Amino acid sequence: MNILIEEFPLDDDLLYLNHAAVGVWPRRTRDAVRAFADENMFRGAAGYPEWMKTERELRGRLKRLVNAESTDDIALCKNTSEALSLIAYGIDWKSGDNIVSSNQEFPSNRIVWESLKDKGVELRLADISGDDPETAMLTLCDERTRLLTVSSVQYGTGLCMDLNRLGQFCQNHNMLFCVDAIQSLGALQFDAQACHADFVVADAHKWMLGPEGISLFYSRAEARDQLKLSQFGWHMVERVGDFDALDWTPAGSARRFEPGSPNMLGIYALNASLSLFEEVGMDRVEQAVLANAKVLIDWVDSEAQLELISPDQSGRYAGIVTFCHKGLDREGHAALYRRLMAAGIICANRAGGIRFAPHVYSSLDNLPEAFHSIVPL
Ligand SMILES: Cc1ncc(COP(=O)(O)O)c(C=O)c1O
Repeated sequence: MNILIEEFPLDDDLLYLNHAAVGVWPRRTRDAVRAFADENMFRGAAGYPEWMKTERELRGRLKRLVNAESTDDIALCKNTSEALSLIAYGIDWKSGDNIVSSNQEFPSNRIVWESLKDKGVELRLADISGDDPETAMLTLCDERTRLLTVSSVQYGTGLCMDLNRLGQFCQNHNMLFCVDAIQSLGALQFDAQACHADFVVADAHKWMLGPEGISLFYSRAEARDQLKLSQFGWHMVERVGDFDALDWTPAGSARRFEPGSPNMLGIYALNASLSLFEEVGMDRVEQAVLANAKVLIDWVDSEAQLELISPDQSGRYAGIVTFCHKGLDREGHAALYRRLMAAGIICANRAGGIRFAPHVYSSLDNLPEAFHSIVPL
């Protein structure tokens, strides 16, 4: 796709395979940030009504990206961890309640739930390394389970969870369903309504091709109403902008989770990044991401010294492919990671191996040769 060549003029000495950590910005995002900086320097906030239009546009794009019912379900937070904290400290827990999650979660989706221990809330972590990760989670649920929380795609192994099955179970058993979608939004299609998600959280800086410091916090209206608020300010009230009013109520929309001035720079950047997904189409993005992952899976399979850590069944892998070298221990993998990085293969050392995460624009043609020049196999 020509548009992708124009949008991703990465330096020739880099093979960028790190969208599961911090992604690359498209050209249009760089342009939007530059233009916004110029505007601030030359005109200050004289055009603030336009800025608010851009903010509304971003909420619309996020609504479409997750198939929310309404833009009222979209709040903008600082990051995934903040959004998860708003959920964890918004629920009215009773001692003896429990939360079910998995043993592969990124620390953001574990620590916050562990922090509820002094309220008498137990966190149960299912071992999802077997053939049926969803059953492993669901069998830990009982009548005191208030919430099930899981990553749509696991950050280390790249395991893709069956959200529809988990969400349906939660709906049937009157449990809240929380999805950390940071490893799939912008890579795979997502449908918050179809999977019965109550909450969906995801920062922009990975697959969504945006900057750090701005994240989606989706909440379904009925679930949102169950959260006690823990942050307050002028921006989260129903009659925002009515500064003289002494009485106030929280906004009916998810804006109630946004206490003060928005991250307008992040809004401009992410709005530009998401416009690219709309132009290309998320179905085509997903196809290309999965095709790249399959190329990597087949390549790992073809190398006798390499072993796949990620799943290889269709539907179980997404954009992340993690593998190990049979001759290397933990330290050896850390050293291999440093050599790959020094050679311009930008990747991560995760789950006891090397994690590659290319995106829609990535070309992997040169990877085997580049890899072999570093690692004799
Ligand atoms: C699954 C998952 N959740 C959350 C995060 C990051 O959270 P935050 O946006 O709070 O930095 C990561 C980053 O690697 C992640 O992989």
